Amino acid sequence: NANASSAEKQAAGIAAADLVKDGMVIGLGTGSTTAFAIAEVGRRVREEGLDVLAVVTSYQAEMLAIEAGVPLTSLAEHPVLDLAIDGADQVDANLNVIKGGGAAHTREKVVAHSAKRFVVVADDSKMSEKLEHFVPVEVLPYARDLVKQQVIELGGTPQIRLASRKDGPVISDNGNVIMDVEFGTIENPAELSQKLSMCVGVVEHGIFLNTDEVYVGRKDGSVEIIK
Ligand code: A5P
Repeated sequence: NANASSAEKQAAGIAAADLVKDGMVIGLGTGSTTAFAIAEVGRRVREEGLDVLAVVTSYQAEMLAIEAGVPLTSLAEHPVLDLAIDGADQVDANLNVIKGGGAAHTREKVVAHSAKRFVVVADDSKMSEKLEHFVPVEVLPYARDLVKQQVIELGGTPQIRLASRKDGPVISDNGNVIMDVEFGTIENPAELSQKLSMCVGVVEHGIFLNTDEVYVGRKDGSVEIIK
């Protein structure tokens, strides 16, 4: 996010990492804000002997966690997580969230729903009264035209996300394509979430309705916790 300085993201990420306690199994999200939380959890593992196991949501999170020295596990071994920390593309006044700007929302949603507590870290540019951000939708490549028709019927304007350093589409960590769907202002996120989940060929969409808290980093380095 070009509008936000990394100081805001860092403040939010470090504050959320403080929620991690000895013996916890945690979920680690994807994106530049969560990256600060992963680095801080790693610092605490190395310097304080913090005893933690983590499940990652993406190759990015896996690489960062390994680099930081955070021990990894899997949902197969630990299906229930004590806490998951993840970023957001937009957060509304009721803590509904749009995710998937990094194409990682499918695994992020699995992890968020596996966690007893789901904490979002964001800089204050992500906060909005209502959700207006496009909705990233992970789509089975075989079904892309069928999904396109269905989201158009829901009032959306779909666009297959193209890769920036490769010719052709972005391929997710799960081997699927990402359809970014513009809906304008989303008046009823729960209803749209349900309708998108009903579309045949949709693997998962980026509307998250289960956020417990948001750690919002501000320009002065302070962090506001919204519940
Ligand atoms: C990944 O697909 C997204 O859900 C990210 O969590 C989201 O894009 C947040 O990224 P930043 O923290 O880099 O803004």
